Amino acid sequence: MTKEEQLQTMLREVKHGLSLPQKVLPSKFFYDEKGSQLFDQITELEEYYPTRMERTILDDHVDEIGDYLGEQVLLIELGSGSSDKTRILLSNLDNISTYIPVDISGEYLFKVGEMLQHEYPQIKIIPLQADYMQSFELPEINDTDRKVVFFPGSTIGNFRRETVNRFLSVVADIAGPDGGFLIGVDLKKEIPVMEAAYNDKKGVTAAFNRNMLHHLNQSLDSNFDPDAFKHKAIWNENVGRIEMHLFSLKDQKARVDGEVISFKKGESIHTENSHKYTLQGFQEIVAPWFTVKKVWTDDNNWFSLQYLETR
Ligand code: TRP
Repeated sequence: MTKEEQLQTMLREVKHGLSLPQKVLPSKFFYDEKGSQLFDQITELEEYYPTRMERTILDDHVDEIGDYLGEQVLLIELGSGSSDKTRILLSNLDNISTYIPVDISGEYLFKVGEMLQHEYPQIKIIPLQADYMQSFELPEINDTDRKVVFFPGSTIGNFRRETVNRFLSVVADIAGPDGGFLIGVDLKKEIPVMEAAYNDKKGVTAAFNRNMLHHLNQSLDSNFDPDAFKHKAIWNENVGRIEMHLFSLKDQKARVDGEVISFKKGESIHTENSHKYTLQGFQEIVAPWFTVKKVWTDDNNWFSLQYLETR
């Protein structure tokens, strides 16, 4: 897609989302440069436990994780970003022969790839720019290696149920027969703990959520007033997820490319979901494609790292 086509698509998605009875905006629009910076800050917040717990689990069990991965491993990370957590695996394991970080944004990906190749000369690093939600081709290498897909961060929680299924079938396809899947999965727990993680006291998550409106104003011909919206994350018990909303602080209008959109005071735009799972529930969801071989959790059972194999 050309830049112009991308903007047209974005415009269409924004207009459509804001025409629905419950207004929605796709969470992918969080991530401009400012949004990525704010997200990095979120991962360091006191209340935001997932990043910290997942790293602790990786640190504490890296040897055992290595045993599960097997020999001559081709490690494929989907949405690799800075490959931060992966370094724990790359630094401590000697059975990883190749690492393929896959990310949609190429510039950063290739820079990180070069750095990693320096740091880990014994591992073949092959960055791959791709949208992992579409199925994609792996470079034709090491066909004998054991493929293991790595998907940390409980990003699977951000997908809707239909998308989860599509994603799992893509991963099963990439990993192939006897392939492995190492995935971070956030677990259900006391509601105040989950809500606090997305309503931090410093207001970083609020800034992150409102930044989407800034981002839209910068990319499109629109005039949202981000300060006229209040961030709030709410646990939805029926669907088992944290929902992020932007609540309109007053009756107001915004213009998007000539179209006027009205907001009532107290009306919300739904911007993100973060589903939480029970171990049993997650096992049932993956069952058509994967068998759960091992689950590591922290002492409180707040977060899990799971090793799955294709059926
Ligand atoms: N997968 C993470 C989570 O749901 C990351 C994430 C997505 C997130 N959107 C977010 C974290 C908004 C905080 C705020 O927790």
